[in-house]
Amino acid sequence: MNFHILTLFPEMVKNGLYTSITGRAIEAGQISVEAVNIRDFSKNKHKKVDDYPYGGGAGMLMQAQPVFDAYTSVLKQIPEGKKKRVIYVTPQGYPFTQRMAEEFAKNDELVFICGHYEGIDERVLEEVVTDYVSIGDYVLTGGELAAMVMIDAISRLIPGVLHNEMSKETESFHGELLEHPQYSRPEEWRGKRVPEVLLSGNQKKIAKWRIEASVERTRQRRPDLYEKYMALQDCKEFLMKQKLLHIDMIELINRGRAILVAREKDKILLMDKDTGIFFYTGDSVEFLQKLPKAVCQSIKKMVLHQRELAKEVSEWLHLKEVMVCYQLVYTQREKLSVSGLYHADGKAAESGLVIRPLSQAYIEDVKSSYELFEGAGEDEEYGGEYILNRIERGCMFGAFLGDELAGYIGIHDDGSIGMLHVPEKYRGRKFGKALQTYAINMALEWGWIPYSQVIEENEASIGLLKSLGLHMSKSPVVWIWKG
Ligand code: ADE
Repeated sequence: MNFHILTLFPEMVKNGLYTSITGRAIEAGQISVEAVNIRDFSKNKHKKVDDYPYGGGAGMLMQAQPVFDAYTSVLKQIPEGKKKRVIYVTPQGYPFTQRMAEEFAKNDELVFICGHYEGIDERVLEEVVTDYVSIGDYVLTGGELAAMVMIDAISRLIPGVLHNEMSKETESFHGELLEHPQYSRPEEWRGKRVPEVLLSGNQKKIAKWRIEASVERTRQRRPDLYEKYMALQDCKEFLMKQKLLHIDMIELINRGRAILVAREKDKILLMDKDTGIFFYTGDSVEFLQKLPKAVCQSIKKMVLHQRELAKEVSEWLHLKEVMVCYQLVYTQREKLSVSGLYHADGKAAESGLVIRPLSQAYIEDVKSSYELFEGAGEDEEYGGEYILNRIERGCMFGAFLGDELAGYIGIHDDGSIGMLHVPEKYRGRKFGKALQTYAINMALEWGWIPYSQVIEENEASIGLLKSLGLHMSKSPVVWIWKG
């Protein structure tokens, strides 16, 4: 990631960002930070960059020309095809959030424009800015500190910058709750003891205590987030009445990824904040028809939990039915036995089989065999990019005989286990069962309820999953997509 900061105070941003963790990331080449002095682009003999605002008023404005020329000098260094955003930090911007940081982190180049005085001539902003962002409802003396705050928050999301890396997929997270309190040695300090449960070694009790402490802290300090959390818990309670049918929505809530878009008693519309996929359960289309137009237009993919509505809902949202799947859920907490399948310690089994996370070196093998790609035609999302993303997130697992890939399985971006494939020549050797077992045990390790969505005609997969003890929903869900 390359950051470019257009500023009147380059030393200020360099002093701040060239130290600590961002400083280390710069040294390691994981990020670069360039501070461009806008004053260097002034055409005035006194290097003046500001003037009075038309119409009168207090203070001075930064003029368009030096800002534009500074921007153009940065643009010249950015190769064509790079993903870039140009951010103007201003108290008049959209509020900066963790989600925004995640979006920005997907780019190759980020240009920050820092204003001073009363701001910048609107005309240059209209020409170059893609995002207007504020770091809070207060006014700083200039944009530099705001840009530094954002660069810090974005940098820590870039792989390798923090060393305590945990896949974002598996980060233990409870949605919008605040973190619970933490304690370190000594056990007692100034007469205050660390809560006993944290010394007990009982991981289950510790996890329960942490959630409760998080909920209580959120209730006290952030009633707005608490309200959202409680609304989702209420949805979950309802969805649990048909756990098998609703497992995808329940797990979305459990994994802290659900946004409650709308609810009316037994009608619930959730959105996955990671993928933008919508999930609807309810017995009427009218509920969706009452949604604001902008919400309907933003729905590109949806999982419907009442098959009989598929036609009407697809028509209303201009989507088409893509597949009908049953949900299969592993309802126990204990891991499956791996004996006779593979060795959990990574050593080769009697059959020679080893299962381990898949590396990028095998992407072509996966792409050439995964059947959804063929159906998806030229759809890039379901081409290499999707699989690459799954591999990078540590969500694809391969079965190996030496270096030979003898099958693979993965966890989809919606959280379900799928993509199982065993090449013809390796079938009949229980490699599929071994891979399923591995993925289920991995999901359990991550604290999830493992589940799969299987296309209704795929009797072989349904049979395999049932033989492993998974339970199948009575009725299926329907995926509807754009295009
Ligand atoms: N510039 C001045 N105040 C600011 C704020 N709160 N956020 C972003 N940029 C700013």
